[in-house]
Amino acid sequence: MFGRYPAAGRTALVTGAAGGLGRACCAVLAGGGCRVIAADLDAGALAELAGELGDDTTTRQLDVTDRAAVESLVASADRVDVLVNLAGVIRNQTLAKIDDAMLQLVLDTHVMGTLNTMRALTPLMRANGYGRVVNMSSIALRGTVGGCAYAAAKGAIEGVSRSAALELASSGVTVNCVAPGLIDAGMFLTVPEDYRREKAQRIPMGRLGTAGEIAECIAFLASDAASYVTGQTLTVCGGLSIGF
Ligand SMILES: NC(=O)c1ccc[n+]([C@@H]2O[C@H](COP(=O)([O-])OP(=O)(O)OC[C@H]3O[C@@H](n4cnc5c(N)ncnc54)[C@H](O)[C@@H]3O)[C@@H](O)[C@H]2O)c1
Repeated sequence: MFGRYPAAGRTALVTGAAGGLGRACCAVLAGGGCRVIAADLDAGALAELAGELGDDTTTRQLDVTDRAAVESLVASADRVDVLVNLAGVIRNQTLAKIDDAMLQLVLDTHVMGTLNTMRALTPLMRANGYGRVVNMSSIALRGTVGGCAYAAAKGAIEGVSRSAALELASSGVTVNCVAPGLIDAGMFLTVPEDYRREKAQRIPMGRLGTAGEIAECIAFLASDAASYVTGQTLTVCGGLSIGF
């Protein structure tokens, strides 16, 4: 069952909305009564998403690395109560082979993208005395072969989230992260199948997670139910991060 956390009357900006996790997140938030502004770089995928969701969802093409574009989108919205930062890219290269362009793309998309939306929106949330920010980490932060750039980005996102949570704690604005494990959607489907199969065998629950299961956790942190949770990372990985 999805959509346990009502969000009637709230408005959410979701970046990376047309991706595997983004689509599920928009559906769960909209299902809870939230108006959703679904933003993504990919105009074609956004057009498909527009067809899937109801009238309370609007789609906007957005490059989160473009600070002026982010600020212009925020200025055009009446009020945004919830920010979910899902825009992301994954590129794997071992340390010896990392090139500057790849590193810049990964850091710009995840870190600058997250900072750009937070810088544009949190002053308004603070002024309203209410806000929920949910950023995306990953259990890949703990280390994967070829994952230096991605881990650097996710580590930065967790640090930014905790620092912002402290700055905003007294103003009704919470900032948290969700750290998914291996999910049967989105960017994990772009890695080779034998790699996926080998990794999936290590998951204590014996299966990949679903996009809906991540969306449900995002919806919790984005809801009034999570009013006393800030600066935390909710790891959602079927037990993969526990250890052995
Ligand atoms: N799928 C997984 O297993 C998994 C696991 C851990 C963490 N995550 C994280 O979850 C988030 C969503 O991942 P996903 O699996 O849905 O990936 P995805 O590739 O399906 O979706 C990412 C979306 O971000 C968009 N995007 C990329 N660059 C952008 C930019 N500059 N501006 C705006 N939009 C941009 C893409 O167009 C795409 O629609 C990412 O932060 C990812 O790191 C995913």
